[in-house]
Amino acid sequence: MRTIVSDRLLLRPWQDDDADFLLDLESGSQIVVSSGAQPTTMKTRKDALASIRRLRAIEHPIYGNWAIATANGRLVGNLLLLPIPPWAEQSFSGSNDVEIGWHVHPDARGQGYATEAADAVLRDAFGRGLPRVLAVTEPDNHASQAVCRRLGMTALGRTTRYYDTINELFEKLPS
Ligand SMILES: CC(C)(COP(=O)(O)OP(=O)(O)OC[C@H]1O[C@@H](n2cnc3c(N)ncnc32)[C@H](O)[C@@H]1OP(=O)(O)O)[C@@H](O)C(=O)NCCC(=O)NCCS
Repeated sequence: MRTIVSDRLLLRPWQDDDADFLLDLESGSQIVVSSGAQPTTMKTRKDALASIRRLRAIEHPIYGNWAIATANGRLVGNLLLLPIPPWAEQSFSGSNDVEIGWHVHPDARGQGYATEAADAVLRDAFGRGLPRVLAVTEPDNHASQAVCRRLGMTALGRTTRYYDTINELFEKLPS
């Protein structure tokens, strides 16, 4: 998986040494870092390591799941760009709908990192020919919807099309 840089951030592949951070980020959260396999709740360091190895195995010219680090190497979150499930495991051929998703550690929120990381990934993906990106947000996830708006995504309203539940959908097309 390639690295992507922005003014303040480096988006890079997950490494085994990141397991403690990933566990801290994801445990106790409903948000699960998925990679084409059936998502499972992350409870232990072993789960985090297994997730890291799945994420690192993603080999695709556009899609990915990156660790977000600051210039001094501090990890602050994760950023994913992947087809929306259900998709054929590891083949990424099961859906034409691609979503972007973000998770920033509570200690690092309120600094624009999610928006900056997502903006860098969107530019990179559109530059590589991706025609459309969606963001699927829970109706009461106003922080995530604010990120969508900062990114200039268009609100498409509520849908039950994804994840068997009601979501607020956002769309971004190349400019
Ligand atoms: C959604 C989530 C990533 C948003 O994080 P965030 O830090 O609020 O989002 P941003 O990176 O866009 O940061 C924007 C904030 O940083 C502030 N900021 C500070 N310095 C900044 C800078 N240099 N540049 C830009 N914004 C800056 C902005 O003013 C804004 O603050 P405000 O919310 O008080 O107005 C975070 O709440 C999260 O991880 N939630 C849990 C996971 C989740 O729900 N994921 C989405 C699933 S759909």
